[in-house]
Amino acid sequence: MHSYFRRQHLFGLPFFSRAFFLGLLVLSPFATRSSFAQSQAVSAKKAVQANSELNDPATEARVEELLKKMTLEEKVGQLVQYSAGQPTGPGTGRTDYQDMLAKGQIGALFNIVTAKETNAFQHIAVEKSRLHIPLIFGLDIIHGFRTEFPIPLGISATWDPQFAERAARVAAREASSTGIRWTFSPVVDIARDPRWGRITEGAGEDPFLGSAFARAYVRGYQGRHLGDAESILACVKHYVGYGAAEAGRDYNTTEISEHSLREYYLPPFHAAVEAGSGSLMTAFNSLNGVPASANPFTIKKILKGEWDFRGLVDSDWTSVAELMNHGIANDGATAARKAFLAGVDMDMVSSLYHDYLANLVRSGDVPEAGLDDAVRRVLRVKFALGLFENPYADEKKESSAMLLPEAVALSREIAEHSFVLLKNDLLPSASPLLPLSPDVKTIALIGPLADDANNMLGSWAAQGRAKDVVTLRAALTEKLGESRVHYAKGSEIATGTDAQLKAAVDAAKNSEVVILALGENGPEMTGEAASRAHLDLPGRQQQLLEAIVATGRPVALILFSGRPLTLPWAFEHVPSVLAGWFPGIQAGPALVRTLFAENTPSGKLTVTWPRSVGQIPLYYNALNTGRPAAQSEMARFSNGGDKKFVSRYIDESNLPQFPFGYGLTYTTFRYGPVELGKTELRLDWLREGLAPTSTSAPAPLLASANVTNTGSRAATETAQLYVRLEGTSVSEPVRALKGFQHVTIAPGETRRVVFSIAPETFAFWNDQNTFTVEPSHVTIWISPDAASGTGASLEIRNKTNP
Ligand code: NOJ
Repeated sequence: MHSYFRRQHLFGLPFFSRAFFLGLLVLSPFATRSSFAQSQAVSAKKAVQANSELNDPATEARVEELLKKMTLEEKVGQLVQYSAGQPTGPGTGRTDYQDMLAKGQIGALFNIVTAKETNAFQHIAVEKSRLHIPLIFGLDIIHGFRTEFPIPLGISATWDPQFAERAARVAAREASSTGIRWTFSPVVDIARDPRWGRITEGAGEDPFLGSAFARAYVRGYQGRHLGDAESILACVKHYVGYGAAEAGRDYNTTEISEHSLREYYLPPFHAAVEAGSGSLMTAFNSLNGVPASANPFTIKKILKGEWDFRGLVDSDWTSVAELMNHGIANDGATAARKAFLAGVDMDMVSSLYHDYLANLVRSGDVPEAGLDDAVRRVLRVKFALGLFENPYADEKKESSAMLLPEAVALSREIAEHSFVLLKNDLLPSASPLLPLSPDVKTIALIGPLADDANNMLGSWAAQGRAKDVVTLRAALTEKLGESRVHYAKGSEIATGTDAQLKAAVDAAKNSEVVILALGENGPEMTGEAASRAHLDLPGRQQQLLEAIVATGRPVALILFSGRPLTLPWAFEHVPSVLAGWFPGIQAGPALVRTLFAENTPSGKLTVTWPRSVGQIPLYYNALNTGRPAAQSEMARFSNGGDKKFVSRYIDESNLPQFPFGYGLTYTTFRYGPVELGKTELRLDWLREGLAPTSTSAPAPLLASANVTNTGSRAATETAQLYVRLEGTSVSEPVRALKGFQHVTIAPGETRRVVFSIAPETFAFWNDQNTFTVEPSHVTIWISPDAASGTGASLEIRNKTNP
């Protein structure tokens, strides 16, 4: 850390490191939460470095030796994968794979969750099959195995990839104790549409932030070495474009230009591959007419070609068979051939590789060299994981690996950092409702999610159990005692009765303040196959909300949801609103500590929060259009004239409810003007700095601003660096995130934040689909979110003016 620090202060001297560094330094002696820059810009052109375990000569020799002994059928067997437990997709739930295993016809199983079960299957594969090749067991471990953390969208709202890494490490330790050495995570799909239920599973809408989280999850799961007993293989998914499903309807068609793919959708996948992800899952969607699970352009050309990915490419659940529904294969054999030739190595659940691949090789429709390449990828990860040496889980150690105190404490810590304070208006008393005073006499705790343990686990609970969860009601009662907490459910999530409503209104009237816990049903309304056309509160919850606000009691609303909800009434009438997401097993303690200021909220949105469904897709890094609407033109109804012919709605503002990057806390911050170390940069220097072979590069540009805590509490702020390029060969976004850092500031204190900006910050995919820098006018912001602040300018020129 310190060497970077010193190096970056050699202002004007050559930038020594080839690892382009984009970071922010806080020039203050005080510690920050994450003491150093989080985000390292990684060249889209840089060769794969972190995959060394998948590129090890000793392993390769073992792979070749084994490959030579394998029959055609045994090779195909390694590419066949079935679910042998609770199904996570359409299917029979079949588990009787013993005979196939003994014949070497299966390479991987998933959805088995105990050491006893994995061992039972493994004994057959290792002891009964001719070549004794172990199985690899997979599972969707999306935000924890037994220790459940907040949903990934919540984890991303911490803006702290180290939390993702630490959570993934805990999940790896717990899962590996059961013999599960493969997680179908991280989800790195860029998501600009909260109707899409799976927005809950990713890190939001931004490729820069998404890449930082992608790397962190991979590091956490895979640890220092894949061969360590507590490491599990990551599977970055869903490749690619899945989050751009038209109209937010899961599994739907996507149309994404090559430019947008490379600029927005591919970077987090590339980051995960560069971080060493040993596997990748292809998606369900069609991409520009070609299904993602049979797409030679994205799999063969980009992933395995340009990025030199040496890991295993898995299909999604029956996505090979679904090529027939997509209309690009009229029979199973064609579907298997097209998926395989496009680069899908393993067939999840379809059974079409099992049925047809050997014959396709015999007929010459699939070259044997291609088959060997796919088998090598499977064997490579199995060797790298050490499965040949240690195929079995220790059944005695399994239970002692779960829910360790430090894991539970981490879950609470992450939850506390994931909450986003959306609104905290002053009450007539001239102070806001939050934080609550510890002297509060009585609190009405109302809402269907106030005491709902199961929903706190979100949509992918893996082995999470409701009994592990401490609810908001339990934690609040623990803090204040039964007599000070007046609990009323008020309604169910999707239904409700008049009697429930009346009891809730009575509880509110009999209390000093109200905490309302409203939102979605995690397992049913968020996640896979849970797209919503309406993003309001389900059931009678809006009616409940209005009835409680009508009592005149001050209300703090906690939203439990897997996505932003369009609640204009709530944001107008409720003084305090906190986005709680689904916080995991420590939901209650994390929330209570936040409500009473034992934790100060610091989360920020990683997705734009829309006002209405009609605005969607709504994302901050949009293009300007030829007729942009100025903010002053956002009044609901224009007066016609010149103001009419701009890109806007006649019945809705263009502005979101809350922008990307937004989040309040219990103090306020003021940002000073952005100062740049230079106002001109030379194009040739920047290009030289970008080249993979370059050994020197120009001094980084420094951008800095003062941030002052203007309130009365210490708090942590996430300062964000945004860039806009104008005059380029393709339109670039009105703002693009290029850096961020946490800075903890005492009341009245000012701290100077400094970003050290490397050439990559100005690079983009141009009209030739080349990642490069062009002459341009640049605006740079250092701001608390994507919508505020005043930018400073510089020029990128062919030659610097004398
Ligand atoms: C389908 C989902 O799309 C994918 O994310 C998951 O990993 C598989 N099912 C396996 O459960």
